[in-house]
Amino acid sequence: MCGIFGIVTTEEGPLGDLLTAAGRRLSYRGYDSVGCATIGADGVVDLRKDVGKVDEVATRHNFAAMRGRRGIVQLRWATFGHPSQANAQPHLDSDGDLVGAHNGNVVNNVELRQQFIAEGLTVRSANDGESCVHAVERYVDRGHDMVTAIRRAYADLEGDYAFVIAATREDCLYAIKKGSGLVVGLIDGATCISSDLPSILPLTRRIVRVQDGEIVTLWPDRIELRRVADGALVQREPEWVTESMDAAAKGGYTHFMLKEIHEQPQVARELLHLLDASADVAAMVERMRAARHLYLLGCGTSYHACILGAVYMARLAGRAAIPILAPQFLPQYGPAVGPEDVGVFVSQSGETKDVLDALALAQGKGMTVLGLVNVIGSTLMRESAVHLPLTCGYEISVPATKTFTNQVVAFLYLALRMGGHPTAPLAALPDLMDRTLAAIEPQVTALAPALVAQQDLYCLGYGLTYPIALEGALKLKEITYAHCEGMLSTEFKHGPLSAVRDDYPVLFVAGPEDVPRLVSGINETTCRGGRAIAIGQEDARLRANAHDLIVLPDADALFNPLLAVLPLQCLAYEISVARGFDPDFPRNLSKTLTVD
Ligand code: M6R
Repeated sequence: MCGIFGIVTTEEGPLGDLLTAAGRRLSYRGYDSVGCATIGADGVVDLRKDVGKVDEVATRHNFAAMRGRRGIVQLRWATFGHPSQANAQPHLDSDGDLVGAHNGNVVNNVELRQQFIAEGLTVRSANDGESCVHAVERYVDRGHDMVTAIRRAYADLEGDYAFVIAATREDCLYAIKKGSGLVVGLIDGATCISSDLPSILPLTRRIVRVQDGEIVTLWPDRIELRRVADGALVQREPEWVTESMDAAAKGGYTHFMLKEIHEQPQVARELLHLLDASADVAAMVERMRAARHLYLLGCGTSYHACILGAVYMARLAGRAAIPILAPQFLPQYGPAVGPEDVGVFVSQSGETKDVLDALALAQGKGMTVLGLVNVIGSTLMRESAVHLPLTCGYEISVPATKTFTNQVVAFLYLALRMGGHPTAPLAALPDLMDRTLAAIEPQVTALAPALVAQQDLYCLGYGLTYPIALEGALKLKEITYAHCEGMLSTEFKHGPLSAVRDDYPVLFVAGPEDVPRLVSGINETTCRGGRAIAIGQEDARLRANAHDLIVLPDADALFNPLLAVLPLQCLAYEISVARGFDPDFPRNLSKTLTVD
């Protein structure tokens, strides 16, 4: 997830170290490239940027020597364009009269770049941050002042983003917010703007939060907020924040996991915008359609998304897809694989060794490799013939949450496209997820104490909820250290039922289509003294048969898995914290497994 920081001061002075320090404070968000621009009192821009870590790039390009009255630092998490010096931000306009940088995704970047080139503007990179600058430039060139030009640009730039921009001939900075975070800091003799609080807090605790659809102009001694829609001034009193740096980095949540759980509706929204505008979706669908055998490969959580992907492909596109744990690919299918086959490799990190080993086998057999990957620039991304970015930003917590959601959203989108169905109904999904989080949290909080002491649980699902049961069980065992087995509900009676005794907890994840089947399983448990906890939409049968029911909002059966996973993530989180563990960093585990 990119980060931007800008500052406007009264007098020209050294800014390089201050900008480098702000960049370091943004680095927890994840990035691949770093850039700084300073603008002197004479309007001359000093722009230095490169691929690498903040301190590496700052040393390599001697940021410490940078001086000016205004400055911008940007950390880039690549989505449009590979990590490279040209694609690093900030960017200049055609003549070097404007300099700016963004955070987020401009989803019509490709079309806009074509327009800019046709209009004679100088486009130097593939990056959408540069499109923000040219989008303003084209209106400045037509004689508009900066505020008007930025307001017009806002209408042209589709997606979720924030950007900061300066005109060299002026003495202020401008910033605009559309979906991504933006906070102003008020300092004695300066004002600053950032993607988030942590990069501002060491400088000041007097802040103004910019809202979506607002443009802010910053001078050293004041700011001006306006609505983009009509240009009207907005009055907002500054607030005084008391949060610690650590709390601010967690966005006010106690752990990164909780923050990332709550980011799911927004990352899904952003991914859907990106997919709607992506030419790579068609390229991927075409290859998947043409495949002799279609394999979906991943490990852990990413594998669970593959199972759900296979269910979606069959239901929506009539296409059989084979979900397979990546390390089992060679022994199970290796001898049968050929160049007519296609593999969709799914990985948050894009560096999991088990996945990369399977990828090497696939390439050795001439198979087409497609990727669903969060970390841009990762091996999986580079090795894929076509990839879709998951656009989740940095997932810090070891338990995968938001990346699972976007893996599933991507599969659902691909399956709809493969089947020739409209994808527009997916637009309702993020709001449904928001409503689900609001509805389930008090229910999970009420239930968790009953499960905190349990050392042994099952989590069962059927059909569309089977992979959710696996994923819920993985979350529970990963961060609570209890044994929790995920299973197809109908398999429970084929053996594990013998474990049931008084008060033995079994979670049943019920899709709206499969309630009768789940009710049978619930009764097999309860009649042996077990405690059946159902997760599903309001249903008299679930209510009558289970001891507890966590109620999800009514939704299409295809959307239900993306809602049902939320209470399981929250339950695992609550039990972990109640047991005194740190859910972000569970013992014995690491975020990226680059070993056998
Ligand atoms: O980076 P990847 O998606 O390839 O990682 C695969 C698994 O290691 C990962 O999903 C793991 O299971 C999660 N930490 C579970 O929450």
